[in-house]
Amino acid sequence: MASSISFACTVLTLLLIICVQSEAKLSSNFYDSTCPNALTTIRTAIRTAISRERRMAASLVRLHFHDCFIQGCDASILLNDSSTITSEKHATGNMNSVRGFQVIDNAKSQVEKICPGVVSCADILAVAARDASVYVGGPSWKVKLGRRDSTTANLSLANTQLPDFQASLDSLISLFSTKGLSARDMVALSGAHTIGQAQCVTFRTRIYCNTSDINLGFAATRKRKCPASGGDATLAPLDPVTPNSFDNNYFKNLIKKKGLLASDQVLFSGGSTDSIVLEYSKKRKKFESDFAAAMIKVGNINPLTGSEGQIRKLCYTVN
Ligand code: HEM
Ligand SMILES: *[C@@H]1O[C@H](CO)[C@@H](O)[C@H](O)[C@H]1NC(C)=O
Ligand SMILES: *[C@@H]1O[C@H](CO)[C@@H](O)[C@H](O)[C@H]1NC(C)=O
Ligand SMILES: *[C@@H]1O[C@H](CO)[C@@H](O)[C@H](O)[C@H]1NC(C)=O
Repeated sequence: MASSISFACTVLTLLLIICVQSEAKLSSNFYDSTCPNALTTIRTAIRTAISRERRMAASLVRLHFHDCFIQGCDASILLNDSSTITSEKHATGNMNSVRGFQVIDNAKSQVEKICPGVVSCADILAVAARDASVYVGGPSWKVKLGRRDSTTANLSLANTQLPDFQASLDSLISLFSTKGLSARDMVALSGAHTIGQAQCVTFRTRIYCNTSDINLGFAATRKRKCPASGGDATLAPLDPVTPNSFDNNYFKNLIKKKGLLASDQVLFSGGSTDSIVLEYSKKRKKFESDFAAAMIKVGNINPLTGSEGQIRKLCYTVN
């Protein structure tokens, strides 16, 4: 009797250890003993870059998101072409669009000076996204750390698993669900479009062809700098009201039918997410806390940990 109880306890304890280990893959104190100044060093580099160019905050938030959606948060997006790598930078959703690589490379080189070979590029991306949000008035969150860097990239995955600005609401919901993110997470995360810019080519069809689901004055204004043909790269703010501050105006714009991308407006177009958009348009704090929680979830997508992958010395190439 006694021995079978103790046997049962041993099994339970082992199960508990296994569960705790797989739960605690990433931790916010990961570098506390190995590189105690890592986070302040990254923050300084990120702040400096955003103080030079405010849009960089948006670009850095997006870079982390595009990293995590492809193979997980492993800094695969940072790898350049080489004999073994076909870079994800060529993907439809990334090409001539994602930016901030030099900022991450610079943060990495500052961190390498104080703790060589310790801090991953994937973690730097995650910290940079948080620091960028804070710098432009957005929420903060405790970044989980301990990701390692991939030795591979996957262009074909990047071509199929980054969200498309023409996607329907159902396909956006299903894409995000494949990454463990709910429709509510997807709406909160889309609120990142409260900062940053988009190119004419991404919203031309919406402003010229969608007469039913757009504010006509807004469409007319956008057409001035985005002609029916040509000027593909001309930029417009995703949130025309406060393009440089992180707030909930993005959701207020959607209610006025002033979403810039088709994928923005589908979130408030008579579908199942309308109520979430309405809620966030009224409750900025609720939006910000949901955004922060969803960013932590994004940062947890399939990280490499333990002895998987490597700690790259230079973010754009494998060691
Ligand atoms: C829901 C599906 C989404 C679609 C279809 C989408 C699509 C786009 C597109 C087309 C652009 C403009 C790119 C260009 O013109 O070069 C853009 C910009 C941006 N996206 Fe998204 N996005 C989505 C979700 C997200 C999420 C979840 C985040 C972050 C959490 C995000 C953050 C950003 C930011 C900050 C910018 C501005 C970047 C800059 O100014 O450099 N997006 N997005
Ligand atoms: C990586 O590739 C980009 C273009 O995709 C280029 O601008 C950059 O200079 C390259 N970086 C290095 C260090 O070679
Ligand atoms: C990319 O991912 C797909 C799907 O997981 C896989 O079949 C393919 O072999 C990968 N390609 C590379 C270059 O790793
Ligand atoms: C206009 O936008 C709505 C969603 O915002 C979409 O359902 C509809 O198909 C679009 N119409 C055209 C002509 O693109």
